[in-house]
Amino acid sequence: MLMKKIGVFTSGGDSPGMNAAIRAVVRTSTYYEIECVGILRGYQGLIEDDIRPLNARSVNHILGRGGTKLKSARSKEFRTAEGRKKAYETVKKHQLDGLICIGGNGSFTGASVFHKEFGVPTIGLPGTIDNDLYGTDYTIGYDTANNTVMEAIDKIRDTATSHNRLFFVEVMGRDSGFIALRSGLATGVIAIMLPEEQISIDELIAVLDRGAKNGKSSSIVIVAEGNGNGGAYNLAQKVTEKYSHYDTRVTILGHIQRGGSPTSFDRGLASRMGVKAVEEILKGETNKMVGIQNDKMVLVPFDEAIFTKKEPNKEIIRVAKILSI
Ligand code: F6P
Repeated sequence: MLMKKIGVFTSGGDSPGMNAAIRAVVRTSTYYEIECVGILRGYQGLIEDDIRPLNARSVNHILGRGGTKLKSARSKEFRTAEGRKKAYETVKKHQLDGLICIGGNGSFTGASVFHKEFGVPTIGLPGTIDNDLYGTDYTIGYDTANNTVMEAIDKIRDTATSHNRLFFVEVMGRDSGFIALRSGLATGVIAIMLPEEQISIDELIAVLDRGAKNGKSSSIVIVAEGNGNGGAYNLAQKVTEKYSHYDTRVTILGHIQRGGSPTSFDRGLASRMGVKAVEEILKGETNKMVGIQNDKMVLVPFDEAIFTKKEPNKEIIRVAKILSI
């Protein structure tokens, strides 16, 4: 089918670099002389017919801006057959030949179901700070989030050292510890608590004891929010129950991790992925996510990206443990 018009939207939790991806999709569409419209608030905007025309000039100067110009949402209505039917009405009304979805695994699950039901070609771009999609080394926003976490923990380190304190810092990652792992390595934390690798309270205390014996004046434990021991508050409580002499504090970094101007890496990644997405949808590809593997652009079927578990790099876990001595 010859494509004449596509729609682009951002969906799920926003991530720095989404705007760069939108810009790339819109400008590539102009380059290949097809029309591109923006769908606001993800699937919810598709259901409510919240569409605006876009052209190469409407995406001026958004490359370096955080958030998403098209806004984002986690649409409950799109999970219902009725909601998806309404969304399809909008697709027909605007004569959209294909969709570009910038989001995470929930967004791609929605795209898969929508394609099965109505056959609308869709290509995904991995836009999530979590980096939890299989088949891509990096997702858009992950690098920026890690830099934000690094800056925050460096500051916490100053006060932790001044007071000889033990800090538990919670970072995002509902089901995955990619941010915790890479930021933990970059900030020299004493322990990294991941959802993917269980460290018991006793093991953690042994590590803290060793640090104290080795003369550490402050310690920071980084905790992924999906860690099996509960969040940072739970962990801190369990540790102080056994070791009340630790002067402990907790910091939850929260949504600052999702904001801010994207790094050079994320701007570049989003730009390359946006071009690839449009070129592939024009070739007739569908139900696939654009990924990056060894610095090459690849296509990964949605089902593989969503359902195959992406494991954290064991070598990084080992290196971080060695260096925390
Ligand atoms: O999926 C991205 C993410 O930032 C997760 O790391 C986090 O658990 C979740 O979104 C938070 O979602 P919300 O902004 O809806 O609270």
